[in-house]
Amino acid sequence: MQELFRMDSGDYNPDGPVFCRPSARGIIEKDGKFLLMHSRKFGYYKFPGGGIEAGEDPIQALIREVGEETGCVVIPESVEEYGSVFRRERDTENPAGIFEQQNYYYFCEISDETTERKIEDYEITEDFAPEWVPFLTIAAHENRVNMRRGGERGIVEREMRVMDMVDEAVRARHFAKEEAEAIAALGDADYAGMLAYVKSVLEPVQTEGEGGVGVHKTEFGYSRFEHTKRVLGWAKRLYDRTEDKTGLRYEDLMIATIFHDVGRAESASHGLMSHAAAGVPITREYLSSHGFSEERTEYIAALVGAHSDKWRMKDPSIDRNLLMLMEADYLDDMGALGIIMDTMIVRARKERATFYDCYNHISRYTYPMQYDSPMVTPEGKALWDSKTTLVEQFCRQLRQDLTIG
Ligand SMILES: [Fe+2]
Ligand SMILES: [Fe+2]
Repeated sequence: MQELFRMDSGDYNPDGPVFCRPSARGIIEKDGKFLLMHSRKFGYYKFPGGGIEAGEDPIQALIREVGEETGCVVIPESVEEYGSVFRRERDTENPAGIFEQQNYYYFCEISDETTERKIEDYEITEDFAPEWVPFLTIAAHENRVNMRRGGERGIVEREMRVMDMVDEAVRARHFAKEEAEAIAALGDADYAGMLAYVKSVLEPVQTEGEGGVGVHKTEFGYSRFEHTKRVLGWAKRLYDRTEDKTGLRYEDLMIATIFHDVGRAESASHGLMSHAAAGVPITREYLSSHGFSEERTEYIAALVGAHSDKWRMKDPSIDRNLLMLMEADYLDDMGALGIIMDTMIVRARKERATFYDCYNHISRYTYPMQYDSPMVTPEGKALWDSKTTLVEQFCRQLRQDLTIG
């Protein structure tokens, strides 16, 4: 199990006898809420769980302790390792000695059954009760402000730090799960395999050869691969919203979108060729070696090669798949993401960036960009408009926030 962090109070006699008491705790989420133990006397929270007894393995202890503390029954098959925290401090039972504890944390699910709670003495003293909490950050905050009120300080602090970490980890897990589901829902082609390939090509690339007006994506953690996934989302949305699908080739559009910026790595390292042109042979090679017909391979590679020629968007004879790819590509930098991007650029350029600096930058880039809408199709225009509305409201609100009177 990976170690999350170590805590060492340093307030003990280093030569004293060491007493070890490992324990196991459960991270239980149900319907967006987390099951925690709340000390109503001291105001802090901890994950349910407790000491591992002789003859028990950590998971057996986890299941027993969660049952005793909360009355909830852990489903053994759902138990999944998260991480451990090691704690060393003066032994309160034996002040001449050292107390050492390895705490193992597990993600787990509970069934609909209940079991009888068994409350220990200290749980009565601290007035502990199980509680479903919607935000771990709120529970962590309670620990922070109640740190000195009572309870064992090391535990209150450890639980606070783990809650903050779990909060982030849980969000990442949810996001990854939703993403995997969305990729699976794209269809039968091996989209996951293609994305993995494009990721392996793009991952090391940070350099941006070309870019929008004054926008320098090299200045913060901009990932071309993340951009690719977002554009894929926009292409799917545009396709789904379009009623007349004449001339549209769904699978080819999805694949072209996945590969559209694959040439970034090549063009960044050589700089002579445009990234769109550089993407053509890479796309061609992948598709022909994965059983695609020559016709489809050439068609998809051509979409990749032409995706930067944005001036062709207004040409009424433009291929509909190419147009949809271009619109999807454009939609990515706008709206909420545009606002964050501008803010990150400001911060990257200026360490002590102010709110006004951000307002100024957003007003100069994201805001005016939206008035020059490159969208052609009604579906593209509608999506662009909703982003425009957001940025407009945001700028108006921000200006008010920054102004006296
Ligand atoms: Fe591109
Ligand atoms: Fe792109």
